[in-house]
Amino acid sequence: MKHSLDIYLEAKGAQFREINERELDRFIEDVIKRYKKFDGAHDDSHARMVIKNSEYIAANMMKDEKIDLNMNMVKVIAAMHDLGLEHDRETHHLKSGQIVRKEKMLRKFFTEEQIELIAKSVEEHRASYKGDYTSVYSKIVSDADRMNDIGTMISRTYKWNKKHYPDLNEQELYNEVISHLQDKFGEKGYARFNTKYAEDMLNQSRKIIMNNEEFDKIYKDMYGLPWK
Ligand SMILES: [Fe+2]
Repeated sequence: MKHSLDIYLEAKGAQFREINERELDRFIEDVIKRYKKFDGAHDDSHARMVIKNSEYIAANMMKDEKIDLNMNMVKVIAAMHDLGLEHDRETHHLKSGQIVRKEKMLRKFFTEEQIELIAKSVEEHRASYKGDYTSVYSKIVSDADRMNDIGTMISRTYKWNKKHYPDLNEQELYNEVISHLQDKFGEKGYARFNTKYAEDMLNQSRKIIMNNEEFDKIYKDMYGLPWK
């Protein structure tokens, strides 16, 4: 007589692979270390934030919408989504997909079908992505990538500009930061979220971005406003 758990596992077939959670966590930590050499807007704290946000969205989806998700996939997608920055910025999403498909370690934890889904999700993570999403995992990483609190939004944009336009003075940097954030996240901003969990978080930041006084208060604490 077959045990009911065996029948369940058999039914899962190729979908199932026993995962050594500790080994997976070690792999994820190694992946995060690779972000340390990226710019300040994409360093290891960014990778950790995207993992945390992804877990938050996924947990809520499972609870509220009864969607069955593989949390290990959610974590790995988040951890690997920007690795393509090792090659270039323009096509980093596609390069991340290639890195996923080539990664031998992933074969320890996931089936080929799951790895392909992970690759597709990192390829579709960018705000500028216009196609249909292959799966809900793409929607999660895409939202998680942009779910910053206001302080993180400011510091990421500030650091990115400082690195790419080192000649800007502090006032010019401030102008770049506020106009970028209004373009992207303001009332008519181009950033779109796929899930209500990310949308709720954005609404809090949007209010501050559209209110100069509140925005300046936060900015001043971070970088100062000597010309104002
Ligand atoms: Fe990212």
